[in-house]
Parts: sequence; C-alpha cells; structure tokens
Amino acid sequence: MARRERYQPPEDLAQGESAYTRYRPLIDDWEAFCDTLQRPLNPCVRANTTRLSRDELARLLQDEGWHPRPLGWQGDALLVDDGFRPGHHWGAIAGLYQIQEAASLLPVQLLDPQPGERVLDLCAAPGNKTIQVADALGNRGTVVANDASGGRLGALGQAVKRHGLVNVSQTVRDGQGMPWAVGRFDKVVVDAPCSCEGTFRKTATAAEPTSPAFRERLVQRQQRLLLRGMALTRPGGAVVYSTCTFAPEENEAVVAAALARAPGTFELVPARLPGLHLSPGLEAWDGAHYGAEMAACARLWPHHNDTGGFFAAVLRRVDGGDGSADDGPAMGDEPRARDLLRTFTEELGVPSSVLDGLTAFFEGGKYAKVVPSGHNAAGGVPVVRSGIPAVRAQTRPPKPATAGVMALGHHAHGPVLELGRDEVYAFFRREALFPGPERCQRLTESGHVLLRHRGRTVGVGMYRGGAVVSLFPKAWSRAAGGSGT
Ligand SMILES: C[S@@+](CC[C@H](N)C(=O)[O-])C[C@H]1O[C@@H](n2cnc3c(N)ncnc32)[C@H](O)[C@@H]1O
Repeated sequence: MARRERYQPPEDLAQGESAYTRYRPLIDDWEAFCDTLQRPLNPCVRANTTRLSRDELARLLQDEGWHPRPLGWQGDALLVDDGFRPGHHWGAIAGLYQIQEAASLLPVQLLDPQPGERVLDLCAAPGNKTIQVADALGNRGTVVANDASGGRLGALGQAVKRHGLVNVSQTVRDGQGMPWAVGRFDKVVVDAPCSCEGTFRKTATAAEPTSPAFRERLVQRQQRLLLRGMALTRPGGAVVYSTCTFAPEENEAVVAAALARAPGTFELVPARLPGLHLSPGLEAWDGAHYGAEMAACARLWPHHNDTGGFFAAVLRRVDGGDGSADDGPAMGDEPRARDLLRTFTEELGVPSSVLDGLTAFFEGGKYAKVVPSGHNAAGGVPVVRSGIPAVRAQTRPPKPATAGVMALGHHAHGPVLELGRDEVYAFFRREALFPGPERCQRLTESGHVLLRHRGRTVGVGMYRGGAVVSLFPKAWSRAAGGSGT
C-alpha cells in the first residue's frame, strides 16, 4: 500500500481534543505543529559508511532519477523524494543504507560515539540506533545491543548481517537489572520505551491521550532503565536518554529524578547540534519543578525541522566511579574457524591484512563467525549472538556467508560479476542467472563468485557451467519482490 494511502490523520487535530492538546501552552505555533503532524514524512536514509559515503549513495540514487538531499545536521543521512520506497530498493536489500526517521538519528548524533569506545544500547530493538553506533565506531570495537524482547532483537540481527557490521553482541535482559558483570561502557544509549506521541507522522497513532496509570508504569520503568544505564557508565563517559514522546513526565521528570538519585555523579551536557532547531528542556511543568539545568535537554518539535518529535538528554559522568572496571577478557581466536576464513583470501581474493583485524570463532558450530580483534562481548552476561557469520563450515567447499561477503566483499579482487538492474533483483529472488560467455571470461573455473551492482557488493553466487546460482539467503529475499522503483 502506498504511504499516502496508509497515512490517514484525523482532519481536526488543531481543533479537536487529542493527546497533543495538553502541550498547547508549550508550543510556539500550534497551527504549524498540527499542520506538520498531518503531513507524512519524507523517506530518510543513512549511508552505511562502512560500505560507501553519503555522497556516493546520493550519486547512486540521483543516477536512478531520485533527488536526494543531505539532511544537514547528520552528515551521513539523505532525505529522498516522496515516491521513493526505500525498503524495496536494491541498496536497502544489500545493506548500503539504513532506513531511519530523521528525528530518531538525534540521540546517537548527540552521544557522538568514537572508534575505540565500548558502547551499550540498553533498549536496542529493532536496532536503528545500534546500527548507527556500530557504523560510527568504524565497524571495530564493541557494541552491546540489549533488549528485553528476544523476538524484537531478531530484526536487529538481520540488520547487523545485512550491513556487514561485525562489532555487535546481543543480549536479552531486562535492562532495569542489567547485571554488573556486563562491564563498564564509555557510552550508553537509553532509548526508552515510551508513549510514542512523536511518531504520529509515521504511524498516525498515539492521537488518543495516554492514561495516567499507563504513563506512571512507563515512568517507573524509564527511571530504572536510566539509572542502570548511568551506573554502567565509566567515569568520563556519557549516557544519552531519549524518547519519541512529548510528555514531560517521561522526559525532563525522568532525567531530573535520576540526577537527584545520583548526586554529584553526573552533569547534563547541553544537547545542541549545528543546523538543527532544538528547543530547551522544560524547567517546570504543570506544577512540577525540574530545575534550571533541564534547559540543557533537547526537545525536537516536529514543525521546527519538518520531522517527528523527540526528546534527548546527554548526561556525562563526572565522579571517579567505584573503581570496578573489569569488562572481562576479549574474545579469542579459534584456529579451525580462522582456517575457514581462507575461503575469503584464497577463493575471493580478500587481502590477508583485512582478516588480521578480525577474531574468528564458532557459535553453534555451523558457521565460522567474526568479530573485531579485541571485541569484548558482554563480560559475564550470556550473549545470544556476537559478530556475523563469515563462512558456512559444513559445506564442501566451505561457503562464504552473505553477511561475511557484505563485510569483506568490497576488499576482494577475485572472481566478480557485475549485474544489471534486472539481474540484481532476480539474484535477490534467488533465480539463476545466465550471463553469457563474454561476461564470464574471468570465471574460468566453477566456484564462488562475488556479485556486484554498480560496483557495490550485493552477495555471492556459485558459478558452474555458464550459470550463476543465487546464494542469497532465503530470509533476506522477502523484500526483493519489486523492481525497486
Ligand atoms: C523505543 S524502543 C527502542 C528503539 C531502538 N532503540 C531503535 O532505535 O531501533 C524501546 C525498546 O525497549 C524495549 N524494552 C522495554 N522494556 C525494556 C526493559 N525493561 N529492558 C530492556 N528493554 C526494554 C522494548 O522491547 C523496545 O524494543
């Protein structure tokens, strides 16, 4: 169904009673606010910079007739024309970009994770912010992505593989009681469950007021999640607390209460970004006083930047901590798994220096997996998965996994076949390709072949007798039914 058909906002948002009426005294231009909420969002995509730059992504889209424009305040993101269906495009299927609403880019942009840092995403599913963090770390180091719902983490696992991100370990815990054994983090994201009032442009829901009892339960959980995130932060490190809602009870009140519970340990850092109109957090509301320092928080009102709504606060740890800084040992290399990585060097022509930065191991036995060297999973907390599968061990010859190819394929100089536009979608649908003798000149022998479209790796096939059998994973090919327009 087209986005505009699906999107059916009530016509009387400015006049009638809705979840937003209570915020009217806070909003500088009520008509503009309501008018903005009633318009759908433009598609927003963030380049997977481990694979290509924002400008390279923009050129790919321009060449196909789209008109992407930089988001401005987030250096890797592009806004695309309304008719663009980002989830059906070959670039999304091959993990060249992440589809992420502009407003939702705010927390990680404020947190500014740097290569070398160990980062915890306490409420991570479906994984947009994890992917943003993992990319910001340059696909090295450690991101621990946790969520209370193992089912919701499934989408995150898919995205990690599609993007070829090796540096994520996933845990399923109630974040309110995340064990100390997980170790300490330089940066923590607490993107808390909330009443979601700011996602109206995406879902056209949350126009109904949230009941006080439901809100109170959310607030209790938000406070405990933020406090645990703060406790797991190293001295000098920082936490970003965010919600996609407007309610001060779920925003400034939660931050103020957490600061009061941990006096002298954290301070608020002004949450501002060049090129983005952010409003200060509220110092008081509806008889409650949160304190003057709450002005350092950021409120993203939809009509100021043509986005959804968001709230974010950045808290920096200023005390010396309690001295417990043990993250446990980094993951170790397993010789048999390392040996299987030779598929990449010997068959696909990946320089061995690329593999030097990776640790190879087994998780379950079916695949040799990889994480960055020095990856420190989750200390003493059991992980549900770490890194990505690189080579399927039980086939003869061993098969390079598509996730491994997404991570390493662009370094390869071995057998490669460039696919045309129709061919790439046929490959995603797992159809065999018959490229003809001229295009197969470099494929003299039967074996694995890297498939590229417009110079970008999209997967791996098996070349035999003039045909290329698609090895694109069944589970990934669901989105690939269309022509990508
Ligand atoms: C706003 S969503 C997170 C969105 C995610 N950060 C992203 O960018 O894709 C909130 C998440 O918190 C999770 N959650 C709710 N209660 C939790 C808890 N007690 N501990 C950990 N996660 C929790 C939910 O399952 C949900 O996935």
